[in-house]
Amino acid sequence: MQYISSRLSDDGVPAFGFGGDYNPEQWDPSVWVEDVALMAEAGVNLVSVGIFSWALLEPSEGEYEFGWLDSILDLLHSSGIRVDLANASASPPPWFSHKYPQSLPVTATGVRLGYGSRQAFCASSPDYRRAAAALTTAIVDRYASHPAVVMWHVHNEYGCHNQPCYCDESGAAFQRWLEHRYENLDALNAAWGTAFWSQHYYSFSEITPPRLSGTFVNPTHALDFARFSSDELLACFEAEAKIIRDRSPHPVTTNFMGFFMGLDKPLDYAAWAEQMDVVSNDHYLVAEDPRNFQDLAMNSDYVRGLAGGAPWILMEHSTSAVNWQPRNIAKVPGEMLRNAMQHVARGADAVLFFQWRAAEAGSEKFHSAMLPHSGTDSRVWREVVELGAALRSISELVGSRVSDAPVAIIHDADSRWASELDSHPSTDLSMMAETRLWHDALYRAQVTTDFRAATDDLSSYRAVIVPMQYLMTDAGADNIRAFAEAGGTVVVTYFSGIVDEDNHVRLGGYPGAFTDLLGVRIEEFYPLRENETTTLSRFGVGRIFSELGRSAGAEVLAEYAEGPTAGSPAVTRRAVGSGFAYYVGTSLSETGVLELLETIAIDADLAIADSPAGDLEIVRRSNGEDTWLFAINHGASAVSVTANGTDLLTGEATAGRLELRGGGVAVIRENRTTE
Ligand code: GAL
Repeated sequence: MQYISSRLSDDGVPAFGFGGDYNPEQWDPSVWVEDVALMAEAGVNLVSVGIFSWALLEPSEGEYEFGWLDSILDLLHSSGIRVDLANASASPPPWFSHKYPQSLPVTATGVRLGYGSRQAFCASSPDYRRAAAALTTAIVDRYASHPAVVMWHVHNEYGCHNQPCYCDESGAAFQRWLEHRYENLDALNAAWGTAFWSQHYYSFSEITPPRLSGTFVNPTHALDFARFSSDELLACFEAEAKIIRDRSPHPVTTNFMGFFMGLDKPLDYAAWAEQMDVVSNDHYLVAEDPRNFQDLAMNSDYVRGLAGGAPWILMEHSTSAVNWQPRNIAKVPGEMLRNAMQHVARGADAVLFFQWRAAEAGSEKFHSAMLPHSGTDSRVWREVVELGAALRSISELVGSRVSDAPVAIIHDADSRWASELDSHPSTDLSMMAETRLWHDALYRAQVTTDFRAATDDLSSYRAVIVPMQYLMTDAGADNIRAFAEAGGTVVVTYFSGIVDEDNHVRLGGYPGAFTDLLGVRIEEFYPLRENETTTLSRFGVGRIFSELGRSAGAEVLAEYAEGPTAGSPAVTRRAVGSGFAYYVGTSLSETGVLELLETIAIDADLAIADSPAGDLEIVRRSNGEDTWLFAINHGASAVSVTANGTDLLTGEATAGRLELRGGGVAVIRENRTTE
C-alpha cells in the first residue's frame, strides 16, 4: 500500500487514496473535461478505469481499440490523477459469448446462463482464459509505463454473478482437481463417505459437479466443489496477475466482497489474499439494517485480517443509495463521512466509491455516485468535497495500523461453507449470524476485534471467540487449545468442532474437536422451534439451539431451566493451563452475550466499556510513535468521550473529555504520555 500512497501526489508525500470507479466510456468525451476538473475540486487522486470496457477495447477477437483509453489516461495524468487500471477481464463482450457459447456458466439445475448482464463466463472455460490472457497482455503492454498508472485492478469482484459453474468443462476441471487432491479413488471414496446411499465411484470420470439431484447431494462432494470453485477462479486471477507482474512493477489487486462469499459464492479469501500485492475490498450497507454500521465494522475487521494487519484499500462503497436492494434507502446527511471514517479507522488507506459519475443508462442508473444526477448543487456532492478535505486533514495517519485489537474471532471459509450445507439439525443455524452476535457485543463494549483463521498465530490476543466453527481441523483445534493453555481465554459456541476436514462427524460426544478443552460432553442436539426461546438459569434465554449433555470437568455457569434439556449445561467455564475455555451451547440474546462478556473480560483481563446503546465506535490506529483515536457517534444524542489530544478534523485540542455530537466524528491525535 505504501507504494501506492506515496505515488498519489507529485511530491511523494503519502496521501489517502480518494476517488472511485470511473467509467468515461459511458459518456461523450466533452464530459471528460468536466469530470477531471470536478475531480480536482473534490481532491480525487485515484480512479479505477476500464473495469467493464472489454467490449469497447476489443471490438472483435484480437483487434484492439485503445484510442479512447489513451486519451482518458493522458487527460487524468495532465490533472495529476492516478489510475488503478483494470485489465478489463470482468465482463466478456457479447461477440465473445456469441462466438463461444460453451463459455457461458451453467447453474446447478443445468440452465446455461445468457449474456446481456455481466460476468457471463465459466471460470474453467479455456476460451475465456485464453481471451482474458490475450486482453490482459495487450493492455499491460500498452500501459505499463503510462505515468498515470500506479496499480492494476484484475477483473472485478470475482464470482459475484457467475459461480459456482456446473457445466461440463467445470466438471472435467473438477475431476482433475479431485485427482490432484486425493490421488486415488480409495481416498476420495473414504473422504466422501460414499458407502452411504450407494455412491461409490470406480473412476474419476464418473464424478460430476454436485448438480441438482432428487434430494441432498453428498455433503463432502458439495464441500469439495466449493473449494474447487474458489481455486478455479483464483487460477484465473493468478494467470492474469502473472502476465501483469511480468511486465510492470505496480501492485496488483482484485476487489474482495467482504463476507459476501458463502456457499453460493465460494471464495476462500484467506487463500486469495496470499496472492494480492495489496488487499482491496468493496462494502455496501444493507440499507434497512438498523445496525448496518456494525456490519460495516465487522467487514473491515475481516478485511484487515486478510491484509495481515497492513493498510488496505476500500475499493468501493456508496455515497448514498444503491440500486440492488429491495428498498434502496438513501444515506442521511453525515452518514457517508461516518462510514468512510469507519473504514479508515479499521485500516483502510484509500476510500473509493462506486462510482464517480451517476450513470444515465444501464442497470445502475439509480445507484448513487460521487457526482449525482443532480450535479454539483447537491448534498451528496458537497459531502464528497468535505470528505476529500477530511481525508487530507488526517493524512498523517497514512501507513499506520490498527492498534489494540485484543480479541480475535475465528473465521474459516471451509467451516462456513460446510456449515451452510443442507440436512443439518436446524435451518436456523447460521455461522454468520452467530459471528455477528459476538462481534456486535464486542463492538458495543468498544473492543476492537480481528478475524483470524483457526491455525493462525493467536499469541497476541487475550481472548479468542470461536463462533459456530462447525468444521475444525486437528491443527486448528490444537492451536486453539495451545492458546488457552498459554493463558488465553477461548469462547467456543454451539455447533463448533462438530466435523473434521472431510465433513465427518467427530465421534464420542459433541463438540468433538473441543470436548476435552471445554470439559463438556454433549450427547444430543435439541434445536428450538422457529422463534422459540428457552429459559436459562442465567444470561437470559437461549435461542435457536439447545443441547442435552453434562459437564466433564467444567464449571457450569448456566444451565437450561426448562424443557427436554433442563439441567444440562448451557454455558460453562473451565480453567485450562494458565487460561480459560468457555462453552456456550445456545445462541444468547444480545443482553445475554454482554452479560457473559463481563465475566469473560475478567478472565481475559479485557477492558470493556459500558455502552448499552452500542452506537459509539472507538478504534485506534498507531504508527508506533503517534496514536490516533477515532470516535464515531452513530447515535442521535451527544456522547462524552475520554480524549486527550488534537482533533485533526477541527484542529481543536481536547483535554480529558470530548463532547461528540450526535452523528459526529473525531480523529484525535493523542498526546504522547512521555511528553
Ligand atoms: C459492486 C460492483 C460494481 C457495482 C456496485 C454497485 O458489486 O463491483 O461494479 O456494480 O456493486 O453497488
